[in-house]
Amino acid sequence: MPKLNEHYQNLKESYLFSDIAKRVNAFTAAHPDKKIIRMGIGDVTLPLMPEVVSALHGAIDEMANAASFHGYGPEQGYDFLRGAIQGYYAGHGVSLDPDEIFVSDGAKSDVGNITDLFDVGNVVLIPDPVYPVYVDTNVMDGREVLYLNANAENGFLPMPNPDIHADLIYLCSPNNPTGAVYTLDQLKAWVAYALEHKAVILFDAAYEAFIGDDSLPRSIFAVEGAKKCAIEFCSLSKTAGFTGTRCAYTVVPRELTMRASDGETLSLNRMWLRRQTTKFNGVSYIIQRGAAAVFSDEGVRQSREMVGYYKANARLIADTLSELGIRYFGGIHSPYIWMECPNGMKSWEFFDYLLENAAVVGTPGAGFGVNGEGYFRLTGFSSREQTAEAMERFKAILK
Ligand code: MLT
Repeated sequence: MPKLNEHYQNLKESYLFSDIAKRVNAFTAAHPDKKIIRMGIGDVTLPLMPEVVSALHGAIDEMANAASFHGYGPEQGYDFLRGAIQGYYAGHGVSLDPDEIFVSDGAKSDVGNITDLFDVGNVVLIPDPVYPVYVDTNVMDGREVLYLNANAENGFLPMPNPDIHADLIYLCSPNNPTGAVYTLDQLKAWVAYALEHKAVILFDAAYEAFIGDDSLPRSIFAVEGAKKCAIEFCSLSKTAGFTGTRCAYTVVPRELTMRASDGETLSLNRMWLRRQTTKFNGVSYIIQRGAAAVFSDEGVRQSREMVGYYKANARLIADTLSELGIRYFGGIHSPYIWMECPNGMKSWEFFDYLLENAAVVGTPGAGFGVNGEGYFRLTGFSSREQTAEAMERFKAILK
Protein backbone atom coordinates (compact mmCIF):
# COMPACT_ATOMS: atom_id res chain seq x y z
CA MET A 1 0.00 0.00 0.00
CA PRO A 2 1.47 3.41 -0.89
CA LYS A 3 2.07 5.84 1.94
CA LEU A 4 -0.13 8.82 1.25
CA ASN A 5 0.66 12.49 1.65
CA GLU A 6 -1.26 12.78 4.90
CA HIS A 7 -0.85 16.54 4.98
CA TYR A 8 -4.01 16.52 2.87
CA GLN A 9 -5.84 15.61 6.06
CA ASN A 10 -4.95 19.04 7.37
CA LEU A 11 -6.84 20.81 4.58
CA LYS A 12 -10.39 22.04 4.88
CA GLU A 13 -12.81 19.61 3.27
CA SER A 14 -13.13 21.56 0.03
CA TYR A 15 -11.67 24.56 -1.75
CA LEU A 16 -13.54 27.78 -0.85
CA PHE A 17 -15.01 28.42 -4.29
CA SER A 18 -16.09 24.79 -4.75
CA ASP A 19 -17.82 25.02 -1.39
CA ILE A 20 -19.70 28.15 -2.44
CA ALA A 21 -20.65 26.61 -5.81
CA LYS A 22 -22.12 23.58 -3.99
CA ARG A 23 -24.25 25.80 -1.73
CA VAL A 24 -25.43 27.89 -4.67
CA ASN A 25 -26.32 24.78 -6.68
CA ALA A 26 -28.37 23.48 -3.74
CA PHE A 27 -30.15 26.84 -3.49
CA THR A 28 -30.88 26.87 -7.24
CA ALA A 29 -32.26 23.35 -7.09
CA ALA A 30 -34.56 24.35 -4.22
CA HIS A 31 -35.60 27.68 -5.82
CA PRO A 32 -35.53 27.20 -9.60
CA ASP A 33 -37.60 30.38 -10.09
CA LYS A 34 -35.07 32.72 -8.39
CA LYS A 35 -32.73 34.69 -10.64
CA ILE A 36 -29.36 34.44 -8.96
CA ILE A 37 -26.75 37.17 -9.41
CA ARG A 38 -23.22 35.85 -9.00
CA MET A 39 -20.68 38.15 -7.41
CA GLY A 40 -18.74 35.41 -5.66
CA ILE A 41 -15.81 33.92 -7.53
CA GLY A 42 -13.77 36.50 -9.42
CA ASP A 43 -14.79 35.19 -12.82
CA VAL A 44 -15.12 37.58 -15.74
CA THR A 45 -18.23 37.92 -17.89
CA LEU A 46 -17.26 40.06 -20.90
CA PRO A 47 -16.31 38.13 -24.05
CA LEU A 48 -12.74 38.09 -25.31
CA MET A 49 -11.80 41.38 -26.92
CA PRO A 50 -11.74 41.70 -30.73
CA GLU A 51 -7.94 42.01 -30.95
CA VAL A 52 -7.56 38.67 -29.13
CA VAL A 53 -10.33 36.94 -31.07
CA SER A 54 -8.76 37.90 -34.38
CA ALA A 55 -5.31 36.66 -33.24
CA LEU A 56 -6.87 33.38 -32.09
CA HIS A 57 -8.59 32.92 -35.47
CA GLY A 58 -5.34 33.66 -37.26
CA ALA A 59 -3.49 31.10 -35.13
CA ILE A 60 -6.13 28.43 -35.78
CA ASP A 61 -5.69 29.00 -39.51
CA GLU A 62 -1.94 28.59 -39.09
CA MET A 63 -2.46 25.32 -37.25
CA ALA A 64 -4.72 24.12 -40.08
CA ASN A 65 -1.85 24.38 -42.54
CA ALA A 66 1.11 21.99 -42.75
CA ALA A 67 3.46 24.86 -43.61
CA SER A 68 2.57 26.92 -40.54
CA PHE A 69 1.58 24.14 -38.14
CA HIS A 70 3.13 24.07 -34.62
CA GLY A 71 3.72 21.00 -32.49
CA TYR A 72 5.38 21.20 -29.09
CA GLY A 73 6.47 24.73 -28.33
CA PRO A 74 9.13 25.97 -25.93
CA GLU A 75 8.05 25.08 -22.38
CA GLN A 76 8.89 28.62 -21.26
CA GLY A 77 6.67 30.23 -23.89
CA TYR A 78 7.18 31.48 -27.44
CA ASP A 79 9.61 34.35 -27.99
CA PHE A 80 6.86 36.49 -29.50
CA LEU A 81 4.85 36.37 -26.25
CA ARG A 82 7.79 36.71 -23.89
CA GLY A 83 8.98 39.66 -25.96
CA ALA A 84 5.53 41.25 -25.73
CA ILE A 85 5.48 40.79 -21.94
CA GLN A 86 8.99 42.22 -21.70
CA GLY A 87 7.76 45.27 -23.63
CA TYR A 88 4.77 45.64 -21.30
CA TYR A 89 7.05 45.68 -18.24
CA ALA A 90 9.42 48.12 -19.95
CA GLY A 91 6.42 50.42 -20.45
CA HIS A 92 6.10 50.51 -16.66
CA GLY A 93 9.78 51.13 -16.13
CA VAL A 94 10.80 47.55 -15.30
CA SER A 95 13.50 46.03 -17.43
CA LEU A 96 13.43 42.23 -17.81
CA ASP A 97 15.27 39.72 -19.91
CA PRO A 98 12.89 37.42 -21.84
CA ASP A 99 14.60 34.44 -20.15
CA GLU A 100 13.23 35.71 -16.85
CA ILE A 101 9.65 35.33 -18.11
CA PHE A 102 7.85 31.96 -17.99
CA VAL A 103 4.49 31.62 -19.73
CA SER A 104 2.01 29.26 -18.11
CA ASP A 105 -1.65 28.28 -18.02
CA GLY A 106 -2.43 30.26 -14.88
CA ALA A 107 -1.10 32.21 -11.93
CA LYS A 108 -2.94 29.79 -9.64
CA SER A 109 -0.97 26.84 -11.04
CA ASP A 110 2.35 28.70 -10.80
CA VAL A 111 1.68 29.99 -7.29
CA GLY A 112 1.01 26.39 -6.26
CA ASN A 113 3.82 24.80 -8.28
CA ILE A 114 6.51 27.24 -7.15
CA THR A 115 6.57 25.45 -3.80
CA ASP A 116 8.49 22.66 -5.64
CA LEU A 117 11.58 24.88 -5.42
CA PHE A 118 11.51 25.20 -1.66
CA ASP A 119 12.25 22.75 1.12
CA VAL A 120 9.39 21.82 3.44
CA GLY A 121 11.41 23.11 6.39
CA ASN A 122 10.95 26.73 5.29
CA VAL A 123 8.85 29.08 7.40
CA VAL A 124 6.11 30.69 5.33
CA LEU A 125 4.55 34.04 6.14
CA ILE A 126 1.09 34.64 4.74
CA PRO A 127 -1.18 37.63 5.35
CA ASP A 128 -4.64 36.78 6.63
CA PRO A 129 -7.17 37.21 4.99
CA VAL A 130 -5.71 35.83 1.78
CA TYR A 131 -6.31 34.03 -1.50
CA PRO A 132 -6.67 30.44 -0.17
CA VAL A 133 -4.25 28.89 -2.68
CA TYR A 134 -1.20 30.24 -0.84
CA VAL A 135 -2.16 28.54 2.41
CA ASP A 136 -3.56 25.31 0.98
CA THR A 137 -0.56 24.57 -1.26
CA ASN A 138 1.78 24.93 1.70
CA VAL A 139 -0.44 22.85 3.96
CA MET A 140 -0.38 20.14 1.26
CA ASP A 141 3.42 20.10 1.52
CA GLY A 142 3.41 20.20 5.31
CA ARG A 143 5.17 23.56 5.64
CA GLU A 144 4.86 25.70 8.76
CA VAL A 145 2.72 28.75 8.07
CA LEU A 146 2.84 31.95 10.10
CA TYR A 147 0.00 34.38 9.60
CA LEU A 148 0.27 38.11 9.39
CA ASN A 149 -2.77 40.04 10.55
CA ALA A 150 -4.36 42.21 7.89
CA ASN A 151 -7.18 44.22 9.37
CA ALA A 152 -9.06 47.50 9.27
CA GLU A 153 -6.42 49.09 11.54
CA ASN A 154 -3.59 48.51 9.06
CA GLY A 155 -5.83 49.08 6.06
CA PHE A 156 -5.42 45.36 5.21
CA LEU A 157 -1.81 46.11 4.29
CA PRO A 158 0.30 44.42 6.95
CA MET A 159 3.95 45.41 7.18
CA PRO A 160 6.94 43.26 8.13
CA ASN A 161 7.77 42.62 11.76
CA PRO A 162 11.58 42.60 12.06
CA ASP A 163 11.36 40.25 15.06
CA ILE A 164 9.65 37.49 13.12
CA HIS A 165 11.75 35.47 10.71
CA ALA A 166 10.24 34.03 7.54
CA ASP A 167 11.82 32.30 4.55
CA LEU A 168 8.94 32.69 2.12
CA ILE A 169 6.52 35.61 2.07
CA TYR A 170 3.33 35.80 0.03
CA LEU A 171 2.13 39.27 -0.94
CA CYS A 172 -0.75 40.14 -3.24
CA SER A 173 -1.28 43.73 -4.43
CA PRO A 174 -3.87 44.85 -5.49
CA ASN A 175 -5.05 42.41 -2.92
CA ASN A 176 -7.40 39.53 -3.24
CA PRO A 177 -9.71 39.59 -1.31
CA THR A 178 -9.51 43.08 0.21
CA GLY A 179 -8.69 45.27 -2.80
CA ALA A 180 -5.98 47.08 -0.79
CA VAL A 181 -2.88 48.22 -2.69
CA TYR A 182 0.65 48.61 -1.31
CA THR A 183 2.45 51.87 -1.99
CA LEU A 184 5.99 51.89 -3.35
CA ASP A 185 7.38 52.78 0.10
CA GLN A 186 5.52 49.89 1.69
CA LEU A 187 6.89 47.45 -0.89
CA LYS A 188 10.35 48.92 -0.31
CA ALA A 189 9.99 47.96 3.35
CA TRP A 190 9.06 44.40 2.36
CA VAL A 191 12.00 44.11 -0.01
CA ALA A 192 14.34 45.43 2.69
CA TYR A 193 12.97 42.82 5.11
CA ALA A 194 13.36 40.03 2.57
CA LEU A 195 16.95 41.01 1.78
CA GLU A 196 17.76 41.24 5.48
CA HIS A 197 16.21 37.83 6.24
CA LYS A 198 17.40 36.21 2.99
CA ALA A 199 13.75 35.47 2.33
CA VAL A 200 11.93 35.18 -0.98
CA ILE A 201 8.79 37.24 -1.68
CA LEU A 202 6.20 35.49 -3.82
CA PHE A 203 4.38 38.47 -5.28
CA ASP A 204 0.97 37.99 -6.84
CA ALA A 205 0.31 40.81 -9.31
CA ALA A 206 -2.73 39.23 -10.97
CA TYR A 207 -4.75 42.43 -10.47
CA GLU A 208 -2.10 44.98 -11.53
CA ALA A 209 -4.18 46.07 -14.53
CA PHE A 210 -6.74 47.56 -12.12
CA ILE A 211 -4.26 50.11 -10.77
CA GLY A 212 -5.37 53.51 -11.95
CA ASP A 213 -2.73 55.63 -10.24
CA ASP A 214 0.75 55.75 -11.75
CA SER A 215 2.34 56.37 -8.36
CA LEU A 216 1.24 52.90 -7.17
CA PRO A 217 3.54 49.99 -8.07
CA ARG A 218 2.23 47.41 -10.55
CA SER A 219 5.18 45.13 -9.98
CA ILE A 220 7.40 44.27 -7.04
CA PHE A 221 10.29 44.87 -9.45
CA ALA A 222 9.50 48.58 -9.33
CA VAL A 223 11.50 48.37 -6.08
CA GLU A 224 15.25 48.40 -6.33
CA GLY A 225 16.76 45.18 -5.06
CA ALA A 226 13.57 43.16 -5.59
CA LYS A 227 15.17 41.08 -8.31
CA LYS A 228 17.43 39.62 -5.64
CA CYS A 229 14.53 38.47 -3.46
CA ALA A 230 11.24 38.16 -5.37
CA ILE A 231 9.28 36.10 -7.85
CA GLU A 232 6.25 37.69 -9.49
CA PHE A 233 3.08 36.00 -10.78
CA CYS A 234 0.78 37.66 -13.23
CA SER A 235 -2.16 36.57 -15.29
CA LEU A 236 -4.31 37.55 -18.23
CA SER A 237 -7.42 36.18 -16.49
CA LYS A 238 -8.55 39.50 -15.09
CA THR A 239 -6.55 41.78 -17.40
CA ALA A 240 -8.03 40.41 -20.60
CA GLY A 241 -10.82 38.04 -19.63
CA PHE A 242 -8.73 34.86 -19.93
CA THR A 243 -10.28 32.93 -17.01
CA GLY A 244 -11.59 30.32 -19.46
CA THR A 245 -8.81 30.76 -22.01
CA ARG A 246 -5.89 30.30 -19.59
CA CYS A 247 -2.65 32.18 -19.93
CA ALA A 248 -0.37 33.69 -17.33
CA TYR A 249 3.28 34.45 -16.72
CA THR A 250 5.75 34.25 -13.90
CA VAL A 251 8.90 36.30 -13.60
CA VAL A 252 11.88 34.63 -11.94
CA PRO A 253 14.80 37.09 -12.08
CA ARG A 254 18.29 35.88 -12.92
CA GLU A 255 19.64 37.77 -9.91
CA LEU A 256 17.61 35.57 -7.57
CA THR A 257 20.14 33.08 -6.27
CA MET A 258 20.47 31.16 -3.01
CA ARG A 259 23.26 29.26 -1.35
CA ALA A 260 22.61 25.49 -1.17
CA SER A 261 23.66 23.52 1.91
CA ASP A 262 26.75 22.24 0.03
CA GLY A 263 27.82 25.83 -0.57
CA GLU A 264 26.88 25.90 -4.24
CA THR A 265 24.96 28.94 -5.50
CA LEU A 266 21.68 27.95 -7.09
CA SER A 267 19.72 30.08 -9.51
CA LEU A 268 15.97 29.96 -8.92
CA ASN A 269 15.49 30.93 -12.55
CA ARG A 270 17.41 27.82 -13.67
CA MET A 271 15.58 25.66 -11.13
CA TRP A 272 12.19 26.89 -12.34
CA LEU A 273 13.21 26.31 -15.95
CA ARG A 274 14.27 22.76 -15.01
CA ARG A 275 10.98 22.22 -13.20
CA GLN A 276 8.87 23.55 -16.05
CA THR A 277 10.73 21.69 -18.81
CA THR A 278 10.25 18.49 -16.84
CA LYS A 279 6.65 18.83 -15.69
CA PHE A 280 5.04 21.20 -18.22
CA ASN A 281 4.78 21.22 -22.00
CA GLY A 282 3.82 24.83 -22.36
CA VAL A 283 0.69 26.75 -23.29
CA SER A 284 -0.83 26.07 -26.70
CA TYR A 285 0.44 28.09 -29.65
CA ILE A 286 -3.07 29.36 -30.37
CA ILE A 287 -3.58 30.71 -26.86
CA GLN A 288 -0.14 32.33 -26.82
CA ARG A 289 -0.97 34.15 -30.06
CA GLY A 290 -4.19 35.39 -28.43
CA ALA A 291 -2.21 36.41 -25.33
CA ALA A 292 0.38 38.33 -27.36
CA ALA A 293 -2.45 40.35 -28.91
CA VAL A 294 -3.29 41.69 -25.42
CA PHE A 295 0.03 43.55 -25.45
CA SER A 296 -0.33 45.19 -28.87
CA ASP A 297 -1.24 48.91 -28.79
CA GLU A 298 -4.82 48.11 -29.72
CA GLY A 299 -4.88 45.16 -27.30
CA VAL A 300 -3.75 47.38 -24.43
CA ARG A 301 -6.46 49.91 -25.35
CA GLN A 302 -9.17 47.23 -25.47
CA SER A 303 -8.02 45.62 -22.25
CA ARG A 304 -8.09 49.03 -20.49
CA GLU A 305 -11.64 49.43 -21.68
CA MET A 306 -12.57 46.01 -20.33
CA VAL A 307 -10.93 46.63 -16.97
CA GLY A 308 -12.59 50.07 -16.89
CA TYR A 309 -15.99 48.41 -17.29
CA TYR A 310 -15.39 46.16 -14.26
CA LYS A 311 -14.01 49.06 -12.26
CA ALA A 312 -17.16 51.06 -12.98
CA ASN A 313 -19.18 48.12 -11.61
CA ALA A 314 -17.00 48.15 -8.50
CA ARG A 315 -17.67 51.90 -8.19
CA LEU A 316 -21.40 51.26 -8.39
CA ILE A 317 -21.16 48.72 -5.57
CA ALA A 318 -18.98 51.04 -3.50
CA ASP A 319 -21.40 53.96 -3.97
CA THR A 320 -24.35 51.81 -2.95
CA LEU A 321 -22.56 50.64 0.19
CA SER A 322 -21.70 54.26 1.05
CA GLU A 323 -25.35 55.19 0.60
CA LEU A 324 -26.33 52.34 2.93
CA GLY A 325 -23.74 53.42 5.49
CA ILE A 326 -21.80 50.15 5.20
CA ARG A 327 -18.03 50.36 5.61
CA TYR A 328 -15.92 48.81 2.86
CA PHE A 329 -12.36 48.64 1.55
CA GLY A 330 -11.00 48.26 -1.99
CA GLY A 331 -13.01 48.80 -5.14
CA ILE A 332 -10.81 51.58 -6.52
CA HIS A 333 -7.69 49.88 -7.90
CA SER A 334 -9.34 46.51 -7.73
CA PRO A 335 -12.40 44.61 -8.90
CA TYR A 336 -13.02 43.55 -5.29
CA ILE A 337 -15.03 45.28 -2.62
CA TRP A 338 -14.39 44.09 0.90
CA MET A 339 -17.40 45.09 2.97
CA GLU A 340 -18.25 44.75 6.64
CA CYS A 341 -21.22 42.46 7.11
CA PRO A 342 -24.18 44.58 8.19
CA ASN A 343 -25.79 44.36 11.62
CA GLY A 344 -22.84 42.48 13.11
CA MET A 345 -23.55 39.37 11.04
CA LYS A 346 -20.85 36.76 10.60
CA SER A 347 -19.55 36.11 7.09
CA TRP A 348 -21.40 32.85 6.35
CA GLU A 349 -24.50 34.16 8.10
CA PHE A 350 -24.53 37.13 5.71
CA PHE A 351 -23.83 34.80 2.76
CA ASP A 352 -26.99 32.81 3.59
CA TYR A 353 -29.01 35.95 4.35
CA LEU A 354 -28.08 37.53 1.01
CA LEU A 355 -28.70 34.36 -0.95
CA GLU A 356 -32.06 33.70 0.70
CA ASN A 357 -33.35 37.28 0.61
CA ALA A 358 -31.76 38.79 -2.49
CA ALA A 359 -30.50 35.78 -4.48
CA VAL A 360 -27.09 37.46 -4.65
CA VAL A 361 -23.92 35.40 -4.22
CA GLY A 362 -20.78 36.85 -2.69
CA THR A 363 -17.78 35.33 -0.93
CA PRO A 364 -17.76 35.08 2.87
CA GLY A 365 -14.70 36.84 4.24
CA ALA A 366 -14.13 34.04 6.75
CA GLY A 367 -13.28 31.78 3.80
CA PHE A 368 -10.11 33.84 3.33
CA GLY A 369 -8.88 33.46 6.91
CA VAL A 370 -9.75 34.26 10.51
CA ASN A 371 -9.34 38.01 10.01
CA GLY A 372 -11.95 37.82 7.27
CA GLU A 373 -14.68 36.94 9.77
CA GLY A 374 -17.40 39.57 9.72
CA TYR A 375 -16.44 40.65 6.19
CA PHE A 376 -17.80 39.79 2.77
CA ARG A 377 -16.26 40.08 -0.71
CA LEU A 378 -18.18 41.31 -3.74
CA THR A 379 -16.79 41.47 -7.25
CA GLY A 380 -17.27 43.94 -10.07
CA PHE A 381 -17.05 41.16 -12.64
CA SER A 382 -20.78 40.81 -13.35
CA SER A 383 -22.47 42.70 -16.16
CA ARG A 384 -23.45 46.32 -15.52
CA GLU A 385 -27.13 45.35 -15.56
CA GLN A 386 -26.65 42.52 -13.06
CA THR A 387 -24.53 44.71 -10.82
CA ALA A 388 -27.17 47.45 -10.87
CA GLU A 389 -29.90 44.89 -10.17
CA ALA A 390 -27.90 43.39 -7.29
CA MET A 391 -27.46 46.86 -5.79
CA GLU A 392 -31.23 47.49 -6.00
CA ARG A 393 -31.73 44.22 -4.12
CA PHE A 394 -29.14 45.34 -1.53
CA LYS A 395 -31.08 48.57 -1.01
CA ALA A 396 -34.36 46.69 -0.69
CA ILE A 397 -33.09 44.45 2.11
CA LEU A 398 -30.51 46.63 3.87
CA LYS A 399 -32.03 50.12 3.95
C1 MLT B 1 -11.16 34.64 -6.75
O1 MLT B 1 -12.38 34.71 -6.85
O2 MLT B 1 -10.57 34.86 -5.72
C2 MLT B 1 -10.40 34.31 -7.98
O3 MLT B 1 -11.23 34.16 -9.07
C3 MLT B 1 -9.70 33.08 -7.80
C4 MLT B 1 -8.70 32.85 -8.88
O4 MLT B 1 -8.34 33.76 -9.62
O5 MLT B 1 -8.26 31.72 -8.93
